[in-house]
Amino acid sequence: MGAAILREGGLVAFPTETVYGLGANALNEEAVRAIFAAKGRPADNPLIVHIHDRSQLAEICDLPEGAERLMDAFWPGPLTLLMPRRPAIPPVVTAGLDTVAVRMPSHPVALSLLKACGLPIAAPSANRSGKPSPTQASHVLEDMEGRIPLILDGGPCEVGVESTVLDLCHGRPCVLRPGGVTREMLESVLGPVDIAGSVLRPLQEGEVARSPGMRYRHYAPEGQVWLVTGSEADTARAIRKLFTEAESQGRRACVMCFSEHMEALAGCRPHDIGSRLHPSETAQCLFDTLRRLDAEGMELVFSEVMPPEGVGLAVMNRLGRAAAFRTVSAAEVLAGQLPFAQSG
Ligand code: TXA
Ligand code: MG
Repeated sequence: MGAAILREGGLVAFPTETVYGLGANALNEEAVRAIFAAKGRPADNPLIVHIHDRSQLAEICDLPEGAERLMDAFWPGPLTLLMPRRPAIPPVVTAGLDTVAVRMPSHPVALSLLKACGLPIAAPSANRSGKPSPTQASHVLEDMEGRIPLILDGGPCEVGVESTVLDLCHGRPCVLRPGGVTREMLESVLGPVDIAGSVLRPLQEGEVARSPGMRYRHYAPEGQVWLVTGSEADTARAIRKLFTEAESQGRRACVMCFSEHMEALAGCRPHDIGSRLHPSETAQCLFDTLRRLDAEGMELVFSEVMPPEGVGLAVMNRLGRAAAFRTVSAAEVLAGQLPFAQSG
């Protein structure tokens, strides 16, 4: 049924190994416009084209240096490559850019849907614009009920953050969005790879985003998220102090902490974000946790952080943006500083 809907120009939400996607026939301009409408997505933010077989590339893009080696190593999987666009891809897909983002997902449901319809499928994450990407079919339903005819349920997504986006068109390869295929993995195939400056900080005044997606407010829960840095022991104590102060001001607060610190933060509404030794666990549950914070009406959220290495770079990029990069050091908090303003 999914394949028939796609062939007729309709929209289908489907699971991938990263997050759920909202797909339409990439060769059908009108179908692609319907994606932007259903998501409430600005038209200047381009989409990723999904394929199941490399023979489809001939009509989509040219292959820059290094592309085939990357495909050999990481496709199917969570790696999106920016390559020069061919004319068959309508400009609405790429927001008028002359590059096109392409990926081959590894999720069996995604692959069989792509195969059954035989088309390149344009698909952004299946959330309403500005909400965290969906990692479960129920998240898609929350955002898209009544807007699309079909959601394929493949259970929770394994990676949990969106694919790595790698630009192969502008000099040295550059990661525009970190994801499940890490810098270290890319460098083992390509040699040195750059990371876009805006991955771990806000865009600066007048700075042009290399990826349009970086311009938009993203992954931001309604409450204010604070990232707390410092030694393991200080961090847990500082977070407890922040929580207690917030609650004493009558503001609903909670904590995002590693499994190892759930006990130390008992009583502070701790949300378990996985083991601090396994960033992939945090990646898996991060968006679901952010959605919960809104559902629970949290006003202030205090979160632990991890080193921005391996999958930790993707986690800190998403968490940083959820927090609008608001950061406070545990030492400062323990010395008596409070980062958030007094209420009313
Ligand atoms: O894991 C994923 O990539 C998921 C699943 C569904 O495949 N898709 C996804 O799509 O996250 P979306 O649309 O939410 O994110 C695509 C990102 C955006 O930040 C967009 O700006 C960037 O890729 N992008 C797409 N085409 C681009 C282009 N030609 N140049 C620069 N950035 C591009
Ligand atoms: Mg998205």
